[in-house]
Amino acid sequence: MKAQESTPPRARVAHVLLNVINDGASLDRELDAARRLTPDPRNQALIQECAYGVLRHYYSLRRHLSQLIERPLRKRDAVIEMLLLSGLYQLFEMQVPEHAVVDASAAAVRSLDKSWASGLVNATLRNALRQRERFVPPTTDDAEACWNHPRWLIDTIRAAWPDDWQRVMQAATARPPFTLRVNRRQLARDEYLVRLQDADLAARALAHCPDGIVLESAVPVSSLPGFDAGLVSVQDGAAQLAAPLLDAQPGQRVLDACAAPGGKTMHLLETVDALELTALDIDPVRLARVNQSAARLGLQCRVIAGDAALPAPWWDGTLYDRILLDAPCSATGVIRRHPDIKLHRAPDDLALLPARQAAIFDGLWPLLRPGGKLLYATCSILPQENDDVLSAALQRHRDALAAPINVAWGRPTRHGRQILSGEHDMDGFYFCVIEKAAHD
Ligand SMILES: C[S@@+](CC[C@H](N)C(=O)[O-])C[C@H]1O[C@@H](n2cnc3c(N)ncnc32)[C@H](O)[C@@H]1O
Repeated sequence: MKAQESTPPRARVAHVLLNVINDGASLDRELDAARRLTPDPRNQALIQECAYGVLRHYYSLRRHLSQLIERPLRKRDAVIEMLLLSGLYQLFEMQVPEHAVVDASAAAVRSLDKSWASGLVNATLRNALRQRERFVPPTTDDAEACWNHPRWLIDTIRAAWPDDWQRVMQAATARPPFTLRVNRRQLARDEYLVRLQDADLAARALAHCPDGIVLESAVPVSSLPGFDAGLVSVQDGAAQLAAPLLDAQPGQRVLDACAAPGGKTMHLLETVDALELTALDIDPVRLARVNQSAARLGLQCRVIAGDAALPAPWWDGTLYDRILLDAPCSATGVIRRHPDIKLHRAPDDLALLPARQAAIFDGLWPLLRPGGKLLYATCSILPQENDDVLSAALQRHRDALAAPINVAWGRPTRHGRQILSGEHDMDGFYFCVIEKAAHD
């Protein structure tokens, strides 16, 4: 059944979850659509909180539910299962009063045209509360429920980070910080902190990021002082590390090869004068957001749709001084911000992505001038997409040399530097700086 405009928010959540979990839809896109159909901002907030919350805790909630219902629901009643998962999340993680959750979930059942299920929903949620004390938390025997990740991903993360895998998965299940990047062309970070204080928004400076601020709680961007005037943008701290690492100098010719939606592009333009910057991306829809951000922030760059792996159709033949390659990847470092990744990624992706990353590297390498620098970045915590891709690239390109990254954040890897999810209040990110040998 298609959700209508008058749909109660809990029924809307059930539809969002159904589309994301069962049909592979993107959480961001589903929430955008739900928001457009939900005029009341409080209901919008409830939908967002429940959808994110259920996906972050999906495996433990599913286990909990399996202990409460006698037999699994039929496939065609999956929307009721989603309603129940969201009910459990509200009861146990949001502490919404019992009667509100039970009554509103029963009302949602009616609007989903599943009136037969109102008794089941009512009884299951009440039962969950009665059994609260007797409920045994998942142990490591049930790894998926314990770590709230699919089994293959737990194994992959554990193999990559044998000393840190548990912390990584806990961080990926937690609520991420709300991080801002101050546009230093307009004002200094300290000045913006004062603006936030004046607006009663508690905030602090973020270490390792000269333009970074963490707010105590998330707010709609419309509540941020001067957002429309371009004083500030929303961007995780790790993403703010790219612009300084690229080390672009005023007036240089820079290619941001996988640029959309443009967070790192804008930071480069905010921090380095007179850059001749080209923002390229294969996805024209996502590229529109680069233009929107540039307009809001009062910045300028050339925006081109094209394939970084095949430059002939879009490259003008002049070499670049710097190239930022923020490669498409598994996004395993940003699961806390995009919990649907856990459900949408599959082991096969890890077989395919490195070849795609290598093809983009090889397409771009001839475009860098001798003596220039390429920054390879991913929001992945898996070496298959990071050091392994770089090892092979360094073998293929004898004029490529990994440069040391001397910083106080993250940890050194074979060729670059890694931040694991949650470290320094940041997303998981990998960076490697590659220099091209200068002609003798
Ligand atoms: C990690 S995102 C980039 C995020 C962006 N740099 C930022 O900071 O906002 C990766 C981007 O690579 C783009 N992409 C994937 N394959 C590409 C290709 N072959 N050529 C150019 N862009 C590509 C995707 O459309 C996606 O926008």
